[in-house]
Amino acid sequence: MEQNDFIRYLLSKKSVDDRALNLRVWNKLKETLRKKGASKSPLRALEIGAGIGTMLTRMLDDDLLPDCAYCLLDINEGNIQAAPGYLASWAATKHIAFEKHGENFYSISTPSAKINLEIFFADIFDFITEQNTKWDVLIGHAVLDLFDLSSAIPAMKAALNPEGIMYFSINYDGHTIFEPQINPLFEENLLYLYNQSMDERLKDGNPSGDSQAGRHLFSHLKDQGIEILAAGSSDWVVFPGSGEYLHQEAEFLHHLIDTIYNEMKDHPKINQAELGHWTTERKNQIDNGDLVCIVHQLDFLGRVNI
Ligand SMILES: C[S@@+](CC[C@H](N)C(=O)[O-])C[C@H]1O[C@@H](n2cnc3c(N)ncnc32)[C@H](O)[C@@H]1O
Repeated sequence: MEQNDFIRYLLSKKSVDDRALNLRVWNKLKETLRKKGASKSPLRALEIGAGIGTMLTRMLDDDLLPDCAYCLLDINEGNIQAAPGYLASWAATKHIAFEKHGENFYSISTPSAKINLEIFFADIFDFITEQNTKWDVLIGHAVLDLFDLSSAIPAMKAALNPEGIMYFSINYDGHTIFEPQINPLFEENLLYLYNQSMDERLKDGNPSGDSQAGRHLFSHLKDQGIEILAAGSSDWVVFPGSGEYLHQEAEFLHHLIDTIYNEMKDHPKINQAELGHWTTERKNQIDNGDLVCIVHQLDFLGRVNI
């Protein structure tokens, strides 16, 4: 996917995520951050795989953050470089002060919180190893399913202070559903192999992905002694309400179908003519306002109890 396409995908995903996030988990996060912010200020928060910064704006829109030093980190240079522009235009529409204080240093002042923002272009695991520092809050939104959780969770836990908080949202959990049905046997096999491709993904020779990250997080967190304060589903549900999709969600759906197509083209177990036909039909359904898409995901709030 081209860099600009990926940024457009993240922009189109924002409203889908807004609807999907589990409110019980979100509200527990809000309550927990209020209490933590009252006993320590400023809090130190690290957001990993932050993309262009949509989660930060979501948190500020809901007055969720107390005063904090907030680190926005992503391994994709184009995504993270787009963050200041995205945050500045968000701040301008809200009449909120967004100031630059040096390369990669910014501040955001809302009526209820002062955020000192630092932006990093880095791999999370290199960053954690190299930084001699600990965090009070670690946030990972739509990113944990890209990691090998058995090594990622211990590494992230080691980066947290005692009683540090982990908020992991939009963790894929194995089910992608499209309606209305077309060629159901082909699609079932396609999505099965698509999930398998996530499980088999390697990065630098190491496992890197879990198509059932959501359900597996229960045991990975427990194995690390992390107390689960709240958990719940956060399924994407994208549908054309009155014949049209909301916001840029038609574009979001096109990206989803393109992603599946690109991953599965040339797969030895997939009939390529059928894949081409399936892709065209699903895309026509988007253009005609017929496609419904449901993707099962889970959100978690955990606390390091040491
Ligand atoms: C699906 S995107 C989600 C981005 C953002 N959280 C959002 O929802 O808008 C996953 C992000 O994780 C980043 N990422 C993947 N592996 C990473 C790693 N090892 N360290 C840091 N970021 C990583 C990618 O570059 C990408 O921006």
